[in-house]
Amino acid sequence: MNSAIENILTRRSIRKYDKSKKVSKEQIDTILKSAMSAPTARNQQGWYFVVVSNPKQLLEISKNIPHAKMVKTADFTIIVCYEVTDEMQKLYWVQDASASTQNILLSANALGIGSVWCAVHPREAKINFIKKEFNLPLNIEPLSLVALGYPAEKKGYEERFDEAKIQYNV
Ligand SMILES: Cc1cc2nc3c(=O)[nH]c(=O)nc-3n(C[C@H](O)[C@H](O)[C@H](O)COP(=O)(O)O)c2cc1C
Repeated sequence: MNSAIENILTRRSIRKYDKSKKVSKEQIDTILKSAMSAPTARNQQGWYFVVVSNPKQLLEISKNIPHAKMVKTADFTIIVCYEVTDEMQKLYWVQDASASTQNILLSANALGIGSVWCAVHPREAKINFIKKEFNLPLNIEPLSLVALGYPAEKKGYEERFDEAKIQYNV
């Protein structure tokens, strides 16, 4: 099978991490390069990433975001944010930042690194916590938080193809 397709099909949410193995700066930069290769409306590229590896801050995220408890055991997290200033950004920032988040998950999987997308937007409490904890610049909105690290659990392809979800107009 084509390796890019195989990578998409085998990506799964990994919530358990092998703390004995560290992701290198070079790998983190490759993941961020992928994040910044996503499509954006009018090619605005308004993204902004907060890379967190400080154990105290990872613990703080776990304590304050109930659905992101796994973050305290992750090697690092990337908080995917977007500048929301003009009307185009207001209309499309969620799609733009989501495409970027998916690129993070896919490039991590290609490198053998586990990851999980944790929701921040549109939950007010989560948004406020992230903005305050990481002192985000004005107009920078957090969309998601991706926990990353070498996997300590095995997951593989799950069959989800469903003809009933497709309308073929041929
Ligand atoms: C918008 C969005 C928000 C999500 N939020 C969380 C979350 O807060 N915590 C979590 O553990 N997983 C979260 N997930 C991961 C989903 O639970 C996961 O993708 C889904 O169960 C399918 O499993 P898979 O990723 O292994 O294919 C989120 C996924 C998306 C797309």
